[in-house]
Amino acid sequence: MIETNDFDLENRIVAPELIKADTTDDVDLNLRPKTLDEYIGQEKVKENLKIYIEAAKKRGDTLDHVLLYGPPGLGKTTLSGIIAHEMGVNFRVTSGPAIEKPGDLAALLTNLQEGDVLFIDEIHRLSRAIEEVLYPALEDFALDIIIGKGPSARSIRIDLNKFTLVGATTRAGQLTSPLRDRFGVIERLELYSKEELCDIIMRSSVILGVACDKEGAYELASRSRGTPRIANRFLKRVRDYADIMGNGKVTKEIVKIALDRMEVDNLGLDGLDRRLLTMMIKGYNGGPVGLETLASAIGEEAVTIEDVCEPYLMQLGFISRTPRGRCATDLAYKHLGLLKDGQTTL
Ligand code: ADE
Repeated sequence: MIETNDFDLENRIVAPELIKADTTDDVDLNLRPKTLDEYIGQEKVKENLKIYIEAAKKRGDTLDHVLLYGPPGLGKTTLSGIIAHEMGVNFRVTSGPAIEKPGDLAALLTNLQEGDVLFIDEIHRLSRAIEEVLYPALEDFALDIIIGKGPSARSIRIDLNKFTLVGATTRAGQLTSPLRDRFGVIERLELYSKEELCDIIMRSSVILGVACDKEGAYELASRSRGTPRIANRFLKRVRDYADIMGNGKVTKEIVKIALDRMEVDNLGLDGLDRRLLTMMIKGYNGGPVGLETLASAIGEEAVTIEDVCEPYLMQLGFISRTPRGRCATDLAYKHLGLLKDGQTTL
């Protein structure tokens, strides 16, 4: 396998975030399920939402505000669209960083119709000033607008239509507690099992018109880091290899050829993950090594390592965090074929 050092982080093939290649066509939209029944996995979250949605509909009420949190790429936006669809209301989408001024939020809120779902992605990135506007909107469905400046300033209250806010965040801990307290429903999304990812890949292959056998889907699922967005991205790329190097069918062999070429190994690690683990083992005897030290040793930003590599490496049990720094575990040595003295196993 060829290793390269110049990573284009924006377009890292195993990035769980949406990358440019995911959105160059409308395939991504077609792959998104529209109903809870079509949505695979996250069983507990689905069961809960089903009850809340049915109960709200039975009462002729809007759904309580919902907070969805968990790692990127697991379907928070998709699930929010499903909530709107199941409630039979409009779905409006924005994100924390896109709302720059209180007026931006006021414009969004005053345009909502009764019962609409407003989805705010990366809600932990709302500024304090904007959060202040949001509180009365969430609690009383009203906006308090200050008119004028100085001693003559006065506040007027504008009533809003009742709506449901669905907030999504990868970092629930970064939400201020007054904001978190205003969500009636809080649900955590988990990484998907290989079996669930397999079902998602089979469903996507039918929509895309790609022939894919069970072993091919399972091999893809094993390398997709528990994340449907990565699985669907792989499927689209592997299809090209199947068309050119095989008979058009996505099989285990084709998946292996394609993902090995993309430098994604059998557990879904890419060159950056392996470079990190190798540095820990060969450069620091397996650790403990501090995050900043490690970052400068491999020439990446500490946040990149923390947000991009570590969650999955910890989930695999390859890295442990101790008060004195990060350590590579025996499993990491074994996966890389390295011995405790840094030598390659025979
Ligand atoms: N595509 C992406 N995520 C999905 C999911 N959870 N269920 C079905 N299709 C999906």
